[in-house]
Amino acid sequence: MQIVDIDFCVPGDVKSLVAIEAACFDIPWEERLIEYDLNEPGSSVYLKASIKDAIAGYGVLGRADDASHLMNLAVLPEFRRQGVALQLMAAFDAISGEWECGRMCLEVRSSNGAARNFYSSIGFVYSTRVKSYYSDGEDALVLIARLPLRLA
Ligand SMILES: CC(C)(COP(=O)(O)OP(=O)(O)OC[C@H]1O[C@@H](n2cnc3c(N)ncnc32)[C@H](O)[C@@H]1OP(=O)(O)O)[C@@H](O)C(=O)NCCC(=O)NCCS
Repeated sequence: MQIVDIDFCVPGDVKSLVAIEAACFDIPWEERLIEYDLNEPGSSVYLKASIKDAIAGYGVLGRADDASHLMNLAVLPEFRRQGVALQLMAAFDAISGEWECGRMCLEVRSSNGAARNFYSSIGFVYSTRVKSYYSDGEDALVLIARLPLRLA
């Protein structure tokens, strides 16, 4: 396990997050969306995982009634399988607890085996399928976990 520093993202992180998006997704989040969120903090929380001064991964958590909603999670390829995502999820688990959420939900591409394995390893289970959820027409699977997550 590579121990990382977990902290809130700041507007100066936009370029690093855009680079992570480009490295991790065929259809990345747009820079202007990330920039807007970081400059106008609303209900979503952006966390970064850093090793020394480099951001290795980041995630975004939102809130919906009694459930928290994982809106994004990405780790640079060179830092994968070292527990970076697990440490981000531990922080999101703690924030969800502060929000008094009993569950966390997320959407994942049906073709994304790596992410589905990761989420299932920490307690997420299949809830439902949303047809053509993504802009390229792929279905999303909605996954749900009871909190706290299975992080041990
Ligand atoms: C999914 C993702 C965030 C996982 O990040 P990570 O930092 O590599 O994950 P961790 O090292 O914390 O993995 C913890 C456990 O999850 C499981 N896991 C993670 N990646 C896996 C993979 N590619 N295949 C199978 N199991 C995997 C394993 O059980 C792993 O433990 P192990 O390495 O001891 O076997 C990363 O692969 C990623 O950024 N993918 C591209 C972006 C993406 O698809 N995001 C999800 C959008 S919903």
